Amino acid sequence: MIYLDNAATTYPKPQVVLAAVNYASKTLGANPGRSGHTMSIAAAEEIYRSRKALADFFHCDGPECVAFTLNCTYAINMVLKGVLKSGDHVVISCLEHNAVTRPLQAMTAKGISFTEVEVVPGDNNATVNAFRSALRPNTRLIVCTQASNVIGVRLPVERLAALGHEYGIPILVDCAQSAGVVPIDMQDIGIDYLCLPGHKGLYGPMGTGVLLTCKGESLNTLIEGGTGTSSISYEQPLEMPEHLESGTPNVAGIIGLRAGVQFVSKRGIANIFRHELSLVQMLYDKLSADKRIQLYTERPNEKYFVPVLSFNIQGANSEEVGKKLSELGFAVRAGLHCAPAAHRYLGTLEQGTVRVCPSVFTRPEEIHRLVAAVKKLADTCEKKRTETPRNSLILKESMVQ
Ligand code: ALA
Repeated sequence: MIYLDNAATTYPKPQVVLAAVNYASKTLGANPGRSGHTMSIAAAEEIYRSRKALADFFHCDGPECVAFTLNCTYAINMVLKGVLKSGDHVVISCLEHNAVTRPLQAMTAKGISFTEVEVVPGDNNATVNAFRSALRPNTRLIVCTQASNVIGVRLPVERLAALGHEYGIPILVDCAQSAGVVPIDMQDIGIDYLCLPGHKGLYGPMGTGVLLTCKGESLNTLIEGGTGTSSISYEQPLEMPEHLESGTPNVAGIIGLRAGVQFVSKRGIANIFRHELSLVQMLYDKLSADKRIQLYTERPNEKYFVPVLSFNIQGANSEEVGKKLSELGFAVRAGLHCAPAAHRYLGTLEQGTVRVCPSVFTRPEEIHRLVAAVKKLADTCEKKRTETPRNSLILKESMVQ
């Protein structure tokens, strides 16, 4: 199988990550911070090292600013539900994932409102102005993805953070597609809340996510429970990050995530990015030369994009194309990618898109093979269309044998 679904989760994982998970599962099988015995203390120390590694990598104030979560969605929910109250307003971009739009939509029942603003790819002034125009006296939070999970377009988060701070409004940045892919300095950019998955660009295991607060700011909790600290009290401890971390953590996952961060640091984030972007540019060039294939952005460049590309075969349903590609040995994601707002913006709500995302392990010949397969599918679609002009434009099972 040629795996090109790395925007959903990276696969395969680096050997060092697999080894770290294995080591933790075998030798650190005790509950960290709960008990005073050697193995429990050792597990807690490893978790602390992982916090420190993430704090250093993203440059927040220190390990106390790093709360481990189940995934990026969980981290985003923690911020939205921990910061907002009735009467508050939020400004978000038109490229947000359901991880942002669904909780906000649910929160409208509690008196919270939100405005979705248009992103203008390649024109950061226009994007920032759109955010500025949407601000209201009761705006309490700006939320934006750093890069679209559908088309890879990057948002000017530095400028949006500055805009928010001009008005005393904090910013939550969804780094689902950018963590480990582009350098992120929280303090430099001015990100108040950074939410990320451990299992994508950082090459950690699934079931890991992180919420980083720039200075360890406290939030209202989403859940309460045992933290291994202040056990005498019914009250949730106020110290960060324990305040946000109730229940037994994913020790092996967190240690694996640290190995992923070290892997990315060692390879060099810029080297990984250059490699992946060159593959996406190659794919773009080959597909854009074929008039039957529709692309949705300009040629991806390093200033405005991360290495994620969406396309469609003219007249074919994206999910059928994804299925056919799977039968031919390619793993891509097709459909709406949990981001209906982005598809409304692109005009692909019905058709969806086929999405390709390489990783550090993807080789140029794998992209060449994908291009050949896509062209073959496009040939079949075209042939079928000319043979049965009145037929539905949906690619049917029988069309590609
Ligand atoms: N949010 C992930 C994706 O874009 C799962 O595929």
